[in-house]
Amino acid sequence: MKLPVFPYGGDYNPEQWPREVWEEDVALMGRAHVNVATLPVFGWAALEPEEGRFEFEWLDDILDRLHRGGVTACLATATASVPAWLTQRYPDVLVVGEDGVRRKHGNRHTFCPNSPNYRRLATLLVRKLAERYGQHPALLLWHVNNEYGGYCFCDQCAAAFRGWLRARYGTLAELNDRWYTSFWGHTYTDWEQIDTPTKNGEHSIQALKIDYHRFQSESLLDCYRAEAQVLREVTPDVPITTNLMGAFFPLDYHQWAKEMNVVSWDNYPYYNAEPADVAFAHALMRGLKEGQPFLLLEQSPSQQNWAPYNRLKPPGQLRLQSYQAVAHGADSVMYFQWRRGRGGIEKLHGAVMEHGGSPENRVFREVAALGAELQRVGGEIQGKRVPARVAVLFDWPNWWGLRYSSGPSKDLDYPKVVRAFFAALHGLGIQVEVVSPSADMAPFDVIVAPLLTMLRQEDADRITCRVEQGASLVATFFSGLTDDTDRVYLEGPPGPWREVLGISVEETDALPPELPNGLRWGEDEEHDATLLADRVRLEGAEVLATYTRDFYAGEPAVTRNRHGEGRAYYVATLPEAAGLRHLISLVCAERGVVSPLPDGPPPAGIEVTARGDLLFLLNYGAHPATVRLPEGSFVDHLTGDSHAETCRLEPLAVLILQEANSPREAP
Ligand code: GLA
Ligand code: ZN
Repeated sequence: MKLPVFPYGGDYNPEQWPREVWEEDVALMGRAHVNVATLPVFGWAALEPEEGRFEFEWLDDILDRLHRGGVTACLATATASVPAWLTQRYPDVLVVGEDGVRRKHGNRHTFCPNSPNYRRLATLLVRKLAERYGQHPALLLWHVNNEYGGYCFCDQCAAAFRGWLRARYGTLAELNDRWYTSFWGHTYTDWEQIDTPTKNGEHSIQALKIDYHRFQSESLLDCYRAEAQVLREVTPDVPITTNLMGAFFPLDYHQWAKEMNVVSWDNYPYYNAEPADVAFAHALMRGLKEGQPFLLLEQSPSQQNWAPYNRLKPPGQLRLQSYQAVAHGADSVMYFQWRRGRGGIEKLHGAVMEHGGSPENRVFREVAALGAELQRVGGEIQGKRVPARVAVLFDWPNWWGLRYSSGPSKDLDYPKVVRAFFAALHGLGIQVEVVSPSADMAPFDVIVAPLLTMLRQEDADRITCRVEQGASLVATFFSGLTDDTDRVYLEGPPGPWREVLGISVEETDALPPELPNGLRWGEDEEHDATLLADRVRLEGAEVLATYTRDFYAGEPAVTRNRHGEGRAYYVATLPEAAGLRHLISLVCAERGVVSPLPDGPPPAGIEVTARGDLLFLLNYGAHPATVRLPEGSFVDHLTGDSHAETCRLEPLAVLILQEANSPREAP
């Protein structure tokens, strides 16, 4: 999907401002090279001030003004925040929290996803919007709801959960078996006995908790589906999205992405976020839809209001972060928000236009300069793919299962472990797609599966097949332990991967931070090992590294097994960063997977990404750096400068290089 413009702009809340301000807004959007406004995200109360009475005149007016000003609309369905009249008349719409207490009116995202009243009223509003604006020339895409999230634990949800379980398991006997309810005598004898896992409820049956996550993620997805269905019916040609949030615990985005025409997400890194961690989030979002470009739907042009320390982005940082998103596959750069609100809890959130501000303000000037640049280069970048031969696997149900696992270590943090492996690849300049273990593995030559404790048999089989054909698998400690309802594989870990890895695991030790173990790779290479340490029994694999301490010193810590045409590595513990880099370079070198740069890894602080025929180089470091380029001569799209052999990057520099006279690659 390629939009007719490279969207540049962001959230706009005209309903918070008098119309005099609108005229100024549209004029200033022009000066900032803004070509898209996302509205009216929280406009339900203004669009339907009482049930069944719709007021569209104000939205007609602003959409016409935007259109005249050359600004398109990312039209929001306005269903994320419900009007006061609605919850007053239909209290069942209000969410019940994990504490079992029904929320009062206010805030946002406080609707029960299984409330028939919410679904009915939300889809009616969506139909009215689609019918009225479906043909509006400003309409670019649909933005359904906003940042879905937040579970409900009400009686409506409990009843719907029981229905969902019946459909999934058929009989209570099957559910009891899959959930292992004989534990502590928790066997159910009537469906009505099953309740939502509120704080004062059932927490010892982990399968119930995992299934409640699946169910709530699907319930919210059903809300999205209900809106999207209306939009598809009325405006079949207009793309539909909803803004996701990276590695967001409550929702299984792999299921969500299937329903979206284009993935979009909101990027709000803390001031001290590692570029590799931000790159991970982009790769995760891009991987949701087989590597298709995504939209960066929100970021702050300056500061947040909700972080512990809401630092300003110093000059140049916004540009650098925006190009990082673009380098990793973003086909838009958008902000929250256009104009800083006058009141409410977001009055201190950064915006393009600040209180009492003017286009002379630093932030506005930076936004305008970036807008001008993207207007020139965006079209050249749009639609191009970020090819990756390495997959890093990420799985939401596995995350849920690990979060609720009692033992073996309180420090088990799934995304942190995945990010550590991703960071090793990122540091080597190797492009990665983050995908579900259920994804098609055909495009990948190296498959890295950190901490896949819950391993579904069919995924394990498909990945094993890919190894047989010649790919390399990197599996880690505490993997292949359980099936999708958290029952342990009786043959012991790594369960369905025992044969491909050529090992089995006898015991797993938890390493307190003050008691790391060590990894020895031969004579001189040694690294710390942390978190967990599996005691491995060899069943055909060779040993690459051994433990240095404790009663299992000298036993295997990293192994490699030949399987068909491929190789399968087992990393029985979490090596420190240098150890991970050592391991990953070995695995990638064996498969000929390299960085796009001739020297391999980029210098410290430099990020390299190839997008189509473009080579992005970004400098996050405090010092200038020199990078050796591939053979040929290159033109920088941003400056028009030519570069050959090497190029120098000042701190905050961005280069978008294309080989001179290279035939244009089809996107
Ligand atoms: C989210 C929301 C926006 C706004 C920003 C503030 O991304 O979608 O409405 O609240 O956070 O950072
Ligand atoms: Zn509910």
